[in-house]
Amino acid sequence: MKGIILAGGSGTRLSPSTDSMNKHLLAVYDKPMIYYPLSVLMLGGIEDIMIITTEEDKSRFEELLGDGSSLGISIAYEEQVEPNGIAEALIIAEDFIGKDDVTLILGDNIFYGQGFTDLFRQAIKNHEYATVFGYRVKDPERFGVVEFDNQQKVISIEEKPDSPKSDFAVTGLYIYDHQAVNMAKTLNFSGRGELEITDINKKYLEQDQLKVQLLGRGFAWIDAGTHDALFEASEFVKNIQDRQGFKLACLEEIAYYLGHISRDELYKRGQSMHKNDYGQYMMEIANRKHTNQYWDTLDHHPALGLVQNE
Ligand code: DAU
Repeated sequence: MKGIILAGGSGTRLSPSTDSMNKHLLAVYDKPMIYYPLSVLMLGGIEDIMIITTEEDKSRFEELLGDGSSLGISIAYEEQVEPNGIAEALIIAEDFIGKDDVTLILGDNIFYGQGFTDLFRQAIKNHEYATVFGYRVKDPERFGVVEFDNQQKVISIEEKPDSPKSDFAVTGLYIYDHQAVNMAKTLNFSGRGELEITDINKKYLEQDQLKVQLLGRGFAWIDAGTHDALFEASEFVKNIQDRQGFKLACLEEIAYYLGHISRDELYKRGQSMHKNDYGQYMMEIANRKHTNQYWDTLDHHPALGLVQNE
């Protein structure tokens, strides 16, 4: 399974904050936005990842994340010259995807909830053709909207409809088989001048190959693409972190739990930024006694078969 994070676009909805800065590098509370979708892919066990961004921002992402080896994964970078739509990512990444399956995640999407890792890993394991994740929202007209019957069989899918047929938004996390690349190549530009990811999903639906996996009320999903949503996302992350003492999307911590880096490496990484809270957290995690009770509080522990690196 390959992974793609889409982190281009024009970011106009967050102007002026994004006039000279890529949206996905803005902070969501205490870390760059892109850490959140990257953490999702890592927790899903995806190790071969491509970040697609604009020509001018590519080097900034490279500076931030490098080739991924410090996290035990591989990160490649590609450019999207114009914001021609989400589905264009599949064409840009054609060689990278090859004959593999691919998970595409939007760089401004944040997922959190007990059991999410498990659910995502199961979805990857059981996946055949195309799987999207549905989430109930109050304002479905702002999103792709999926309609389904009582067996969760998809009936329709529409992009930002004026009269939504359900309250279920399609989140920015998509699992596809390799057909998606050829499908993307046959798309026409939509009214808003984009190659729509919803049109890919429609093609799978026409072939009776589109599955929807619902994320229930215990999950939080935030598309941080507006000022309000960005602010809410920061508040959400701060609240959870302050309450539980666990950080969301600390990439080094995840790499450690996955067995990609050792306790020593985690500690040293933390030490190198000991003046800030993120670095101190890494040192604290490396020093924690891993009792059973501690593991029990980690949502992803059973799913990952985590090793305790000494
Ligand atoms: O967040 C979920 C929604 O994302 C889905 O429900 C919609 O079906 C889907 O079309 C998309 O809607 P948005 O209007 O939120 O997409 P937006 O233009 O904000 O782009 C989403 C992310 O993808 C954002 O982080 C920027 C990036 N992007 C977008 C486009 C159009 C690119 O990197 N390149 C692009 O060409």
